[in-house]
Amino acid sequence: MAAPRRNVELKARDRDPARSLERARALGAEDRGDLRQRDTYFATARGRLKLREQEPGGAELIAYEREDAATARESRYRIAPVADGPALREALDAALGATVVVDKRRHLLLWHGVRIHLDEVAGLGAFVELEGVAPGDSDLVAEGERVAALRAELGIADEDLVPTGYADLLAGASEDDEQRAEELLSAAADAMRHAHVPYSQFPVGAALRAADGTIHAAANVENAAYPQSQCAEASAIGVLVAAGATEIAEVAVVAERLDICPPCGACRQRLSEFARPETRVHLGRPGGPRRTLTMGELLPLGFGAEALG
Ligand code: THU
Repeated sequence: MAAPRRNVELKARDRDPARSLERARALGAEDRGDLRQRDTYFATARGRLKLREQEPGGAELIAYEREDAATARESRYRIAPVADGPALREALDAALGATVVVDKRRHLLLWHGVRIHLDEVAGLGAFVELEGVAPGDSDLVAEGERVAALRAELGIADEDLVPTGYADLLAGASEDDEQRAEELLSAAADAMRHAHVPYSQFPVGAALRAADGTIHAAANVENAAYPQSQCAEASAIGVLVAAGATEIAEVAVVAERLDICPPCGACRQRLSEFARPETRVHLGRPGGPRRTLTMGELLPLGFGAEALG
């Protein structure tokens, strides 16, 4: 078997992609423009395997091995051109199972044999990646030095280095998201037990995660004079504000008698006062059925503070 190709790689979060692009151009890097890449990862017996479908450029199958480390590291890889990307993707999915899909826009530049990737990855954000491509007989020292020099020029800080790949980050992110959603739904279900609902017999619990991660939950509180009743979301907003928070990062709503309880119109407006259009709202039960939407989906074209000028 032929030896794999090798390179020296470094990956980091990019806090300011426009500045990175400007610096790379100022260094005289050759600008190769934008690529759209969709990488599908498959379960493997050894190393990693991804099918890359690229526009412009077509498809290729890439098998590679790389240690996880927050530093420049060696990657050994084999690339096979693919004539029919979708057909191979379906065959590999059927045989091995697809694990993660990484969708990104890549701005590619070249600087003295180092590929500079300015990546915008769906669901993860902006990254900069440096790849020092090595000739077959290289001891990788020169490639490592060029990557280090470029890293210094681009001002990549230690704390921004990423030790894993995009696929690992996405898998980790979805596990964390899942845990957070469950935690919030549980808090809403706990609060629901204290609902004061002698008139409707319809207990509801709402839990709000503040920007600092703390959870604020409450239930609906009814009144013999019905219009004075208060929804669970309104109660929870009071708890959040009383704790000194001003931002809602995530919402969960649970109802005893309904699997998916859509917040009433008034509460969509109340929540939007403290949330953003992309804030996630989980409607459902802990460990049970769930529907996750964004605030913007629940309240399109909402009236917000910006309308007041
Ligand atoms: N309710 C909530 O607390 N939140 C909602 O999003 C929908 C409705 C309450 C109000 C009232 O106490 C009961 O459910 C029946 O309308």
